[in-house]
Amino acid sequence: MAIKVLTEQEIDEQKQYMKKVANLMAGKKYHIYTMGCQLNENESEKLSGMISEMGYIFTDVPEEADLVIFNTCCVRENAEDKILGQLGYFKALKRNKPDMVIGLCGCMAQEPHMVEKFNKTHGQHLNLIFGTHNLYQFPELLYKAINENEKMIEIWDMDGTIAEDIPIKRESKIKANVTIMYGCNNFCSYCIVPYVRGRERSREPKKILEEVQKLAKEGYKEITLLGQNVNSYGKDLENPITFAKLLESVVKIDGIERIRFVSPHPKDFSDELIELIAREEKISKCIHLPLQSGSTEILKKMNRKYTKEQYLELANKIKKAIPNVLFTTDIIVGFPGETEEDFLETMDVVRKVRYYSAFTFVYSRRVGTPADKMLDQVDEDIKSERIGRLINLVNDILEEENEKLVGTVQKVLVEGYSEKNKDMLTGRTDGGKVVNFEGDSSLIGNMVELKITEQRKWYLAGKLL
Ligand code: SAH
Ligand code: SF4
Ligand code: F3S
Repeated sequence: MAIKVLTEQEIDEQKQYMKKVANLMAGKKYHIYTMGCQLNENESEKLSGMISEMGYIFTDVPEEADLVIFNTCCVRENAEDKILGQLGYFKALKRNKPDMVIGLCGCMAQEPHMVEKFNKTHGQHLNLIFGTHNLYQFPELLYKAINENEKMIEIWDMDGTIAEDIPIKRESKIKANVTIMYGCNNFCSYCIVPYVRGRERSREPKKILEEVQKLAKEGYKEITLLGQNVNSYGKDLENPITFAKLLESVVKIDGIERIRFVSPHPKDFSDELIELIAREEKISKCIHLPLQSGSTEILKKMNRKYTKEQYLELANKIKKAIPNVLFTTDIIVGFPGETEEDFLETMDVVRKVRYYSAFTFVYSRRVGTPADKMLDQVDEDIKSERIGRLINLVNDILEEENEKLVGTVQKVLVEGYSEKNKDMLTGRTDGGKVVNFEGDSSLIGNMVELKITEQRKWYLAGKLL
């Protein structure tokens, strides 16, 4: 198997297909459902870019759409139930609207057993299915599905592709996600991502910097660099460079005021990177440091390649170098073989690190992963009882940490009006906290200083200085 870097000719071919579709479909409406992580969101923005080039207009009423795309995630089981429910709903809709084109792509499309299931139960009304490695081929597949009225299923089983210069239509005009690498080589034993996203492959630094420069020119203020393990960025390039070096070049781009990155793997967090974050004001001091479990035993079975002690040492080292750092994390409870003692180790790390926010997940068995075959699966009752305790602890810490912010001054990037209260502006702190405050619309898109006046658990209230 191999990694394919697309040629300009292949991209041009797709541009020709975009024109052909535009001739047939200009003015029609489209809708995209996006599940999963920021990488998928970024890929939906690329799909939107291509679809807009093909003359379609976005609608947020899916029932009105002539083209509906499901960009799927398969990291946990509940996503499967959701998508099957949605497809059932559209099956009924399509009875009255037979020309509606329905497509499915993303991570689930790379799972052979799911594709089989989709074909069996929804084969009649799904017009096209394509995988994560041939997203760029979408215009061609759509054209054939429409013009030749043929069902298009095209999924590549390979290590992956790198496709540059795909049109993109971004959600926000203020902050943007930039994917710096695709795939994952870590094979954590619970995780499906390496199987559906292929091997690690880095984009050329030049291409990334050009993208960020363009965003800066367009007025974007915040950039999030994305990859499944950004700390191994650049190792596979012909001229290898470190993630820290890439980040250093991004910092130098004028106009970008805040830079975030997700996710770094704790096993590869270098001193070079810590020093850079400490030194550069533009780099967010909120670091996502995925824990997964606090038990060394479980971490070993998870194939995470660090112990509880090494993780805590790293967190302490970062705290020393960056005293105002905030940590966020991901935690899984109920991994096979997790005992009460193991779970208490996780609770202990949460108490010690005092995460500012934590995404907590109940372990979900994934077909094809080593953990799925482990014999000591934990009972569902125990899993839900444990996640309940964990969420309570995380929330208590969140409130205590929020309380500490009351009275402080925070730099906030103003994103727009608050959805709940249209008279208030809303933005995010460096730590990613939502702050609502009164102010003029001219502030939207700017970084402002706010005094935090109140904390309401899920958001803060602030006042302009
Ligand atoms: N590459 C990123 C995370 C990708 S998936 C990283 O390593 O941090 C996002 C999160 O989903 C993971 O951090 C993990 O906490 C969770 N996750 C992955 N597989 C899971 C599974 N089988 N069951 C429950 N949670 C899972
Ligand atoms: Fe999954 Fe682990 Fe890769 Fe993250 S690092 S995507 S958890 S295999
Ligand atoms: Fe889900 Fe795929 Fe992201 S499985 S978490 S959408 S990489």
